[in-house]
Formats: sequence, C-alpha cells, structure tokens
Amino acid sequence: MNHYEKVKQTLREKPKVWLITGVAGFIGSNLLEALLKLDQKVIGIDGFLTGHHRNLDEVRSLVSPSQWANFTFHEGDIRDLEACRKAANGVDVVLHQAALGSVPRSIENPIATNEHNLTGFLNVIVAARDAKVKRFVFATSSSVYGDHPALPKIEDQIGNPLSPYAVTKQVNEKYASVFSRVYGMECIGLRYFNVFGPRQDPDGPYAAVMPKWFAGLISGEEIFINGDGETSRDFCFVENVVQANLLAGCTENPEAVSQVYNIAYGGRTTLNELFDLIRSIVSQSHPEAGAKKPVYKDFRPGDIRHSLANIDKAKSLLEYAPQYSVKDGMEKAAEWYLNYT
Ligand SMILES: NC(=O)c1ccc[n+]([C@@H]2O[C@H](COP(=O)([O-])OP(=O)(O)OC[C@H]3O[C@@H](n4cnc5c(N)ncnc54)[C@H](O)[C@@H]3O)[C@@H](O)[C@H]2O)c1
Repeated sequence: MNHYEKVKQTLREKPKVWLITGVAGFIGSNLLEALLKLDQKVIGIDGFLTGHHRNLDEVRSLVSPSQWANFTFHEGDIRDLEACRKAANGVDVVLHQAALGSVPRSIENPIATNEHNLTGFLNVIVAARDAKVKRFVFATSSSVYGDHPALPKIEDQIGNPLSPYAVTKQVNEKYASVFSRVYGMECIGLRYFNVFGPRQDPDGPYAAVMPKWFAGLISGEEIFINGDGETSRDFCFVENVVQANLLAGCTENPEAVSQVYNIAYGGRTTLNELFDLIRSIVSQSHPEAGAKKPVYKDFRPGDIRHSLANIDKAKSLLEYAPQYSVKDGMEKAAEWYLNYT
C-alpha cells in the first residue's frame, strides 16, 4: 500500500472534520467529493461568486445519501468574519480554496481581488486560529514566482509579482508564516500550477484555457492562443491536487508543517501541444474539429512565459506522488468536458 492509500485508510478508520472554503468551486468541489467518499465530516462555505450550485449537485449524485449527510453547507462570504467563525467551529483541518482566480481579472479589478483574496484569507485564518483548528492548508499559486527566471521553479526562489493576483498569493504565504510563528498554527501552503479536471468552469471571460478550448472545439468557435503558442505550463490534474491537500491535512511529519510546496505534475506542455492533444480527443466524437487551427493573438500582460515546477520538496516531506500525467488526466477530464457541453 502506498503512502496516500495508507493516509486514506487511516482517515476511514478515524474520520476528521474538514472545512473547505470555496466548496462550490472547481477544486473545492473535487475536495468535497474525495472527502465524502472517505466518510469524512465536511463543512463548506461558498458565496457562489465563481462557484455553482451545479457542482454541489454533481457531488451529491456521486456519493451515497449517508455520505452526503456528512456535509454541512454554509452559503456565506469569507469577507464576513462572523460567517467564517460559524463555519470554523469544531473543525480539525481547514482547506482554504476560496479566492478570486485569474490574473487578467485582478488586473482589471485589483480591489475585488484584494478583498476576496486578502481580507477573506485573513478572516478565515483568524477564525481558524480562534476555533483552535489544528491544521490550516491553503491554496496559493505558481504566480508567486513572478519574474524570477529559474526553471524549474523551486520554493525558496520567488521573484517580484507580475499581477495583483500574485501579490495576494505572496501575502497569503507571508500571513501564514507569521501565524505559524506568532500563534503556533500549523499552516501549509500549496502552490498550485495550472490545475485542470472535471467541474472546471468553461464559461465566462476568465475561464481557464483547457475547458475553454474543449468547449470551443466542440461548438466550432474560434480558439485563440495568446502569443506564439510556445508558452508552456505545468498542467496538473485535479486528483493530484486532492492528494496533496489530503497529505498536507494529515501529515504527522513535524518538518512538513509551516511550509509551502509546489503542487504540479512536474512536466512541461506548450499551448500548441495542448491544443493538438485536445483537438485529437474532441475530433474522435466531433470530426469537424480535426481541421481546426488556433488563431494567434498578442501576448497577455502579466502572463509568465514558462512555468515548470520542481516537486521534490512535496515528494520528500509530504510523500506526494502525483498519479496522473497530463495525458491521463486529460482523458479523465475529457469525459466530463464532452458531457458538459
Ligand atoms: N485552478 C487553478 O489552476 C489554480 C491555480 C493556482 C491556484 N489556484 C487557487 O486555487 C483555489 C481554488 O481555485 P478554483 O480553480 O477552484 O477556482 P473557482 O473559482 O472554481 O473556486 C473558487 C470558489 O471560491 C468561491 N469564493 C470566492 N470568493 C469568495 C468569498 N469571498 N466568499 C465565499 N466564497 C468565495 C467562489 O464562489 C468559488 O466557488 C483559489 O484560491 C485559486 O486562487 C487555482
């Protein structure tokens, strides 16, 4: 049995109480599904800013009625400290996911990003501290590497942020470090790199590239690539991110807490390669997509040219072992994307 299987086995035997913020979002709802399937008690909070009722409905359809009964949902906003306090009551582990994602959105509206990602973060961590929550795991982002040229990215070499979004994630990490030091909280930051998978929203102006391209190829719309398509990313299937959260929530290794980790697959895919991969999958059921070519546009401000993670730290301290490559994850995600549209 590998380490992750052992952790899941222990959770089944000794369930914990988890709080997921942003539970109706893409990653939050995947965490919810995994934890309910392990018979954990889960409290969730979401204000449906970018999350959807349909994500919660889908999770409900994927678990048993008794597992669903272990879920308590608070419709609320993390900018409201009282709402955070109510949600954090009696919790063992917080998995803080709620935030406004997207670099371009933050460039257009830095004040909103600041309120959700910084004031919201501070409210959740203060509520967790006051509720004596043992472990605070939070989503941070590869965007913290900013203009640092090193590739692959190593946790302690970060540069200047290139967007308001990246500022908020850098400050989240600093707050967590201060809360560990000053209040003795066990905080773990997970720097996600381009996550993809079921329930990632294909709609709206700030949709991530993978669901947007699936939807566009299926419906015959134009697919735009910002730049020359040789921009690369370390795309990470959401199941790998779920694994990282569960390991971070449960680790008993004292060296593993009060740290930040790159959470990715550890491989590089260019946007051109990604387009080819998605087109080949979609054209199996929609042959007309086979001849589709992308339209190249200008580079986007704030975008990082290449992003590739070194995941050695998570491997050694958390015993993280990502199970899905981009191709394996894409095949699983494709089932969902093809049915969604
Ligand atoms: N998806 C990625 O590739 C990626 C990469 C790096 C970091 N992250 C981080 O991971 C986390 C989850 O991202 P996601 O992709 O699931 O995004 P998402 O937009 O699908 O989910 C975020 C959820 O948080 C909720 N939310 C936002 N502000 C809130 C508020 N003030 N009060 C209550 N709920 C609020 C939204 O309604 C939504 O359900 C975020 O912190 C994001 O910055 C994501």
